[in-house]
Amino acid sequence: LLQKLSITAVGRREKLLNVIKNPVTQYLPVGSRKIGLSYSADKSVKLNDYVAEFSDDEALVFVVGAMAHGKIDSAYTDDQIQISSYPLSAAWCLGKICTALEQKWDIQ
Ligand SMILES: C[S@@+](CC[C@H](N)C(=O)[O-])C[C@H]1O[C@@H](n2cnc3c(N)ncnc32)[C@H](O)[C@@H]1O
Repeated sequence: LLQKLSITAVGRREKLLNVIKNPVTQYLPVGSRKIGLSYSADKSVKLNDYVAEFSDDEALVFVVGAMAHGKIDSAYTDDQIQISSYPLSAAWCLGKICTALEQKWDIQ
């Protein structure tokens, strides 16, 4: 991805991943709630309870770092949350977000 700036599906022209230019906020839904995930966030939450608080009318954007070192830019996030008292992989965080939203929307 970082070498070619995009990843295309095999046999199709569909782009699966794309490197985008800052500011990232221009790609996000207007009025969306931007939630940054960080192991060092002061606010510790149970993700199931946290997502249950939001109205379904509000678009939620989760910001998860995809790097081994460093922190996500919190300048454009509305909230910073810690979802476990252990440092997790980005993939595990994404799984936990999907599971919490599955429970909120009763998807099985
Ligand atoms: C492998 S970690 C990145 C490690 C990086 N040194 C850091 O501390 O952000 C991948 C991402 O998962 C999220 N993450 C990891 N553990 C977390 C936790 N306990 N609570 C909330 N988010 C977490 C953060 O967004 C982090 O950037």
